[in-house]
Amino acid sequence: MSVAQYFQTMDYAPAPEDDQAARAWLERHGASFGHFIGGAWRAGVSGEQFTVHAPSTGEVLAQVAQGGAPDIDAAVAAARAAQPAWLAAGGARRARHLYALARMVQRHSRLFAVLEALDNGKPIRETRDLDVPLVARHFLHHAGWAQLQETEFAGWAPLGVIGQIVPWNFPLLMLAWKVAPAIALGNCVVLKPAEYTPLTALLFAELASQAGLPDGVLNVVTGDGRTGAALVEHPDVQKIAFTGSTEVGRSIRAATAGTGKSLTLELGGKSPFIVFEDADLDGAVEGVVDAIWFNQGQVCCAGSRLLVQEGIEARFIAKLKRRMATLRVGPSLDKTIDMGAIVDPVQLARIESLVQAGRREGCDVWQPSEVALPEIGGSYYPPTLVTNVAPASTLAQEEIFGPVLTAMSFRTLDEAVALANNTRYGLAASVWSETIGRALDIAPQLACGVVWINATNLFDASVGFGGYRESGYGREGGREGAYEYLKAAGWGKGALREAMPIAAPAAAANERLADYASGTGFVDRTAKLFIGGKQARADGGDSRAVHAPSGAPIGEVADGNRKDVRDAVSAARGASKWAQMSGHARAQVLYFLAENLSARADEFAAQLARRTECDAAAAEREVDASISRLFTYAAWADKYDGAVHMPPLRGVALAMNEPLGVVGIACPDEAPLLALISLVGPALALGNRVVVLPSESCPLMATDLYQVVETSDVPAGTLNIVTGARDALLPALAKHDDVDALWCFGLARHSMLVERESIGNLKRTFVDHGRRLDWFDRSAEGMTFLRHAAQVKNIWIPYGD
Ligand code: NAI
Repeated sequence: MSVAQYFQTMDYAPAPEDDQAARAWLERHGASFGHFIGGAWRAGVSGEQFTVHAPSTGEVLAQVAQGGAPDIDAAVAAARAAQPAWLAAGGARRARHLYALARMVQRHSRLFAVLEALDNGKPIRETRDLDVPLVARHFLHHAGWAQLQETEFAGWAPLGVIGQIVPWNFPLLMLAWKVAPAIALGNCVVLKPAEYTPLTALLFAELASQAGLPDGVLNVVTGDGRTGAALVEHPDVQKIAFTGSTEVGRSIRAATAGTGKSLTLELGGKSPFIVFEDADLDGAVEGVVDAIWFNQGQVCCAGSRLLVQEGIEARFIAKLKRRMATLRVGPSLDKTIDMGAIVDPVQLARIESLVQAGRREGCDVWQPSEVALPEIGGSYYPPTLVTNVAPASTLAQEEIFGPVLTAMSFRTLDEAVALANNTRYGLAASVWSETIGRALDIAPQLACGVVWINATNLFDASVGFGGYRESGYGREGGREGAYEYLKAAGWGKGALREAMPIAAPAAAANERLADYASGTGFVDRTAKLFIGGKQARADGGDSRAVHAPSGAPIGEVADGNRKDVRDAVSAARGASKWAQMSGHARAQVLYFLAENLSARADEFAAQLARRTECDAAAAEREVDASISRLFTYAAWADKYDGAVHMPPLRGVALAMNEPLGVVGIACPDEAPLLALISLVGPALALGNRVVVLPSESCPLMATDLYQVVETSDVPAGTLNIVTGARDALLPALAKHDDVDALWCFGLARHSMLVERESIGNLKRTFVDHGRRLDWFDRSAEGMTFLRHAAQVKNIWIPYGD
């Protein structure tokens, strides 16, 4: 036999990793665990436990406490008690603790890797080479943010107690993604691991305590969805950070609506893997392996939809099938396997039933006959390729969360973009082309938070991760991830006023008004809506009277309804030109707008004085502040431009700030001109199109604006103004699936309505919970608003051969 023949006939022998240390840890605890609260183990109050299995074999690993409300109470109390001292310790001290945690993970890396593989069923190769090193990296990186917090996040404060709920697909890595930034920046945490995979979180909490992490900074309460729900509902939790299914994400959004809790959601995905005909095909085949068979496809950003350019489709699929035949499925501790077990029989059944649905819909399902599944009691599913898939079919739309790849073809780049974006999700995408211009051309057109060019599933603590659309909101990692655990210091109670004082009508203002009255005819004229660049009558033809605070009639505005909101949203959706314009071009338009407003400042001040019955000086001050704010956002338009990250690989990641799309904005009653400009300004500056509901009591300041808008080169549909009853218009905006974000300032009940009604398409919301902002204050301008007006897309570009 020749050496070549010998190699071809060689087979793999099992190469099991030694699991003694992990077994010894389980035994030390009698394979029975309580919660880890306030630096100590505590039995669950109810005494109820659930069983944790090894997915590879079905073997019982441990009994773990099922947490209830009393356990959550105790954990939140411990976190709350610990937080002041943890914050007072200062960033430099916290940095030392996080650095110690990174070292602790490195010292125990083998134990963590083995326990994670046992508990989750994923290959030890992955836990050893990816999960655990990335966990250490996350703590190390965030030690740095703690060290730099005072200077880099000056003016920002931690939120307090954070409730974190993580899934089972990356149990320890998700813990790190959540815990590291939260505690680095001075918060304390109650973490609820997933019920299938709680063990590494418990090990981590125990070892963190031994490494000197103060009691109560990190608390772990185990249990199922009921435990998670109790954490979500706890009144002393200031923020919920969740990773998991879109369905549960929605229920958490509904449960936290109106409570003032911050929320970040990392949800599902159906990410495209796009291969152009000029791609390195062998490289792309290996990419597919990492995209969909990594962690058995149980990855939120798995490249589960293969889109191949038509000319290479047959060749690529043939290569892929050959590669699939060489994949090895086996128990997680075998170092030679490519794919391990599915986490639980429930998940396995879900995958099977989805694939069955695909078969019924006429898809072709292919599984390599060469790949044998181990018969050792675990939950296994073979690598699967599905072709003949219609874009609207179940398998092309539903997240399968298993090792199942669906394949489709496209002809042109535009078609690839259309197919890629044809999903309610927007987490990630992978683009394969040797032409850098093409790859960088398509990346901004993909509606998702992460794009990997000629790569897939790259993660790093310095690069933000998170989705667009129904994949959730908020970012983890990077500077943008750090902000998710902070609040602007001025955003708290300090800078907020109970009510804006309304002064008595000033004689001087009334006198000056007489100069303008003849031209505008206050009472006779009904101000129309402003939709698609044109003044429009309200659909119902109705109007509503507007009064000054004293009750004096001052005019009429159109009484818009749901249909008008729909028209305004559709005009805004169509005005995509604004998003495509350069920041430079947008800056020019906004400068022009500010100049034109400035030219009419006296008129606006006089109208404002009359309509709000404030004195002339106050009105002038508000108009001046509005003009100045508009100039400020004109200045920002070409400056809020992202960053280049340098993660530890040969390559860069471009963090680009992109507009959200169509933003609905409901303005408060106070400071009717300044508040409107303060909200519309940042949204427009960053390329969003806006549907604004102006102050309900003083809408005429907004309707006066359209003459200014019309003369300022603002493209039609970019800014739309709908007047009418807030209680009728706001739900229509909140429920509209073509509105990407909704900002609401004014009454607390409106904030709650917005948060509750926005769950359909998981809009990004930005609300004041009825705490009146001082619109003249510096805190009503700048970063907080810009951050809400953009979403970050990270484009990874590895380079070299
Ligand atoms: P899930 O969303 O139910 O579970 C994730 C976490 O949320 C777990 O810790 C769970 O205990 C907790 N949870 C469940 N209900 C809750 C509630 N009402 N309030 C608060 N916390 C709650 O995910 P599951 O059932 O394990 O998986 C189902 C599907 O979800 C998967 O097939 C997959 O499609 C998707 N999924 C997506 C993940 C992602 O990373 N995006 C991770 C896990 C699942």
